[in-house]
Amino acid sequence: MYDIAKLIHLVAGIVWMGGMTFMLLALRPATLALMEPQPRARLMSEVWSRFFTVVLVAIAALFFSGSHLYTAAFKASKLAGGVGSVPLGWNLMLVLGIAMMLIFGHIYFAGFRKFKRAVKAAEWPLAAKAAGQIHTLMLANFVLGWLAIAAVRLIR
Ligand code: HEM
Repeated sequence: MYDIAKLIHLVAGIVWMGGMTFMLLALRPATLALMEPQPRARLMSEVWSRFFTVVLVAIAALFFSGSHLYTAAFKASKLAGGVGSVPLGWNLMLVLGIAMMLIFGHIYFAGFRKFKRAVKAAEWPLAAKAAGQIHTLMLANFVLGWLAIAAVRLIR
């Protein structure tokens, strides 16, 4: 069970981190270089609505698999006679992972809703503002995600 949970955890992490890498380093600069603001906003609305659905699924998978990995190791360390503990890097992953999920909640339920409403109403300055907010929050999650992965690999 531990190995299956870890596989699910890795796949979900790769999907989320890989999607953000593509968005931030490839799609965004390319659309900024080539597209007018209005078709670009329409394209991003379609892209984000698909990608964010994938992220919601990835978050559920990361949360449940991560909780299983964490509690299984905690219990095993207790059974082995310890007080019940996990490496510091794991606790950092837990905290950073939850921060990422909360930030994504803000992206999805605040920024993206505002963005979609503005695009529908053809209020382009408002759409641009909401898109900027989504970009900043996604950048924050991108940095936190790599920090969480570095922490779980490097800090014992
Ligand atoms: C509630 C949030 C999370 C919890 C409780 C959690 C928990 C854990 C635990 C306990 C491990 C260590 C498993 C082991 O080494 O056997 C782990 C590994 C890992 N986690 Fe998370 N995690 C969370 C969120 C995330 C997020 C948001 C990402 C990336 C987007 C992520 C990516 C990874 C990766 C790539 C590994 C594998 C590292 C390795 O092979 O040693 N996790 N996680």
